Amino acid sequence: MMFINLTEKEKEDKYAELIEYANKIKNEALKNGCLKILNDYKSELFVRGAGHDGIEQIKYERTHQCFDGGLLDHTLNVTKNAYNIASIYKDKVDMDLVIFGAILHDIGKTKIFDKWNENDEIKSNLNYSYLLVDHVYLGEQIAEKYLDKEEISEKLKYQALHIIATHMDTMDKHMAEAYIVSYADSIDADVENIISYPRNAVNPIIKKYMYESENNTK
Ligand SMILES: [Fe+2]
Ligand SMILES: [Fe+2]
Repeated sequence: MMFINLTEKEKEDKYAELIEYANKIKNEALKNGCLKILNDYKSELFVRGAGHDGIEQIKYERTHQCFDGGLLDHTLNVTKNAYNIASIYKDKVDMDLVIFGAILHDIGKTKIFDKWNENDEIKSNLNYSYLLVDHVYLGEQIAEKYLDKEEISEKLKYQALHIIATHMDTMDKHMAEAYIVSYADSIDADVENIISYPRNAVNPIIKKYMYESENNTK
């Protein structure tokens, strides 16, 4: 297992970087909404993982960043990925929506994971909200609540919510910005997953034939 909790200093640094990205948003409503959510959910972001611990012995293949501050780590990586990808299409995409969507795409995860109890027979940090509605719906709800307090057009509000709503392929994407955030999300989740759960650790065939870089860069 290669999950190490972030130090308080690392968390503060990553959080400060996220605030810097949020401040790049030019639209006042999107910027204010984003900054207020980051402020109000700061302590949640500092203690949650991005993925679930699952059941200890059966590590889920697609989980990632299951450590204190993992949600913060993932959110920052996705924001950087999305920002860099969107920069390639600079004049054709709305950078405000990309930054807003990337920072808040997983904010619903603040509601779906609990700390698991050492004494429970099945060690899982999942709760009913994860199992029955999941983070996309909860994230949209949080973002909508904050955007409703700002002066924002219905169109822009729903464009922003569309990015959160579609980042997990739960419905069709209708905007380039939604594709950018969704792929930026997958890049980080998949890369972090395979680093944390090298397949050779569990699969003897992959262990024999696995890819292992011979270029010692670490
Ligand atoms: Fe997600
Ligand atoms: Fe994500």
